[in-house]
Amino acid sequence: MLVSILLATLAGLALAPLLLCWRNPHFFDDVNYALTTIQIALRLNKFKKGKPCYSILDRFLDSVARQPDKQFLVFEDSSYTYRQADQESNKVARALSQHAALKEGDTVALFLGNEPRFVWLWLALAKLGCTASLLNYNIRSKSLLHCFSCCEARVLIAGPDLKGAVEEVLPSLKQQCIQVFILSENCDVEGIESLSDKIQQAGDQPLSRHLRANINFKSPALYIYTSGTTGLPKAAVINHERLWMASFLQTIAGVRSDDIIYVYLPLYHSSAFLMGLCGAIERGITVVLRRKFSASQFWNDCRKYNVTIIQYIGEIMRYLCNTPKVNLFFTLHKTHKRDNDKDHKVRVALGNGIRADTWAEFLQRFGDIHICECYGATEGNVGFVNYIGKIGAIGKEHFLHKMGCPYALIRYDTEKEEPVRDSRGFCIEVAKEETGLLVAKIGERTPFSGYAKNKQQTEKKKLRDVFVTGDLYFNSGDLLKIDSEGFVFFQDRIGDTFRWKGENVATTEVADHLLMVDCVEEANVYGVKVPGHEGRIGMASLKLKENMDFDSKAAYEHVKNSLPSYARPRFIRIQDSLTVTGTFKQMKMNLAEEGFNPAVIRDPLLYLEENKGYIPMTQEIFNSIAEGRIRL
Ligand SMILES: *[C@@H]1O[C@H](CO)[C@@H](O)[C@H](O)[C@H]1NC(C)=O
Repeated sequence: MLVSILLATLAGLALAPLLLCWRNPHFFDDVNYALTTIQIALRLNKFKKGKPCYSILDRFLDSVARQPDKQFLVFEDSSYTYRQADQESNKVARALSQHAALKEGDTVALFLGNEPRFVWLWLALAKLGCTASLLNYNIRSKSLLHCFSCCEARVLIAGPDLKGAVEEVLPSLKQQCIQVFILSENCDVEGIESLSDKIQQAGDQPLSRHLRANINFKSPALYIYTSGTTGLPKAAVINHERLWMASFLQTIAGVRSDDIIYVYLPLYHSSAFLMGLCGAIERGITVVLRRKFSASQFWNDCRKYNVTIIQYIGEIMRYLCNTPKVNLFFTLHKTHKRDNDKDHKVRVALGNGIRADTWAEFLQRFGDIHICECYGATEGNVGFVNYIGKIGAIGKEHFLHKMGCPYALIRYDTEKEEPVRDSRGFCIEVAKEETGLLVAKIGERTPFSGYAKNKQQTEKKKLRDVFVTGDLYFNSGDLLKIDSEGFVFFQDRIGDTFRWKGENVATTEVADHLLMVDCVEEANVYGVKVPGHEGRIGMASLKLKENMDFDSKAAYEHVKNSLPSYARPRFIRIQDSLTVTGTFKQMKMNLAEEGFNPAVIRDPLLYLEENKGYIPMTQEIFNSIAEGRIRL
């Protein structure tokens, strides 16, 4: 993503073609974007040359020197200046170097929710030249062990509320000689050490840069997990160069040094961590951190903390639009109504996945906010930014961009699940206004770092012999469309993943869990559309073992204990046999289209009622969902 900005050297040449097309209605925005990206590219080039390279941590330390008393992090009722944040992280770094003997190049897995210590821990690890692996705090047991082992971490640090989840996998961790810490003052479990007490006792003097003397742009800075198209989560390797590129998104979106950003998405995701936190450090601004998203508190927080920049993923904006419209104010003498929707200082929203209808509604209701929609996979080497603010587009093509990162939309066969090839065996670029699979050339300037310890999945994202024999492209897995003005639109995501509540759900992983339920012989998991909801909700078609009935209690217990709520199949369909393709791949498309309407489907259907379990699906439930009386 944003790799185009490496085009520094072309800066001089860049503006000429733009001047030729001054008739273009977006002329000034295009020029502005070009200048910004060139500026970024020049800076990046300079950062790269230092030894050790100038990393986002160095940027933070420069801010500490320049504006020590500026607020850096605000969380609930506490706030920390840049200087305090620096000191807090020095203490953590010292405690870890003393008690875990961490050294440059080691990896440490962080397993905790959004709170200031998340930030101190990461800064501390950066100061020690270590890589942080950001585990999703919703994962448990087998998935947790998998994520932990694919980054080859030596140390696990967990939040106190996740002690149970850690204890569950402790024997396995101990077998691998992993050192386990918990962020509390003491710990009575053998094999888990307390960390908070050690941090308190540590000194807060700065750490020597020698500790990270060998870190360069290609060194891994972070592992961020993505649920890919198949199986268990994969650890995308984020090196220091990519960390910078993602951080510059705020600059492109027009964030200024006096802005205040609200970070409420989970820090283990790239949106919050890279675009939010690291972007804020790049800009030297204040971060208002929140533990979790709350639609009802969102604007109150924005007002309370004077937030000017917000982030979103598509569904969030819809949740905000769905909150009740009128606030009631009770004064001493009378009750009067006032709508305070536009009473805030938010001026920019940065994110991805907002639907066109939500976009328009959002602007109408919450006022003139510049929505900067972006596109880019955590591990991808291509991205787009809709710097114009065109409703519905995920980005705009820019010739500079295309020069820096050659990409193309190619024709794709959704049934065969592969790109269409011509008689010579090459892929076919689609015309403007036509949907195609986004692929981006993998090269020196646009590398694809792949997934840690997962050669197979890394290879799967590569596409060879695309336009000439021997070329190599990154397969984004996304179907896009580009219109005649160069606006880019998201169409669909291919493969075995669906998105629900902003999370990618890997169907095979869910199926694996269903197969552990005693009565289940085969499971086919897919996502179905629900009227009025974005994304697709999980549904499973099951074949039961002979002479066995569906055990709703066992199925519910298992699903509840092993899967995060967004991944749990909300509907279950019992079939006599599951259809497969000629290559023994499960057919999902037809099932997904058939959906969950009992009037259409003859097979037995079940519905997962929140906090209760699987109950028989009825027409009444279906109607309530279809009419929006039941929200999923
Ligand atoms: C927010 O801004 C107002 C007006 O500029 C100021 O009075 C107030 O103290 C600010 N609040 C915070 C939490 O900084």
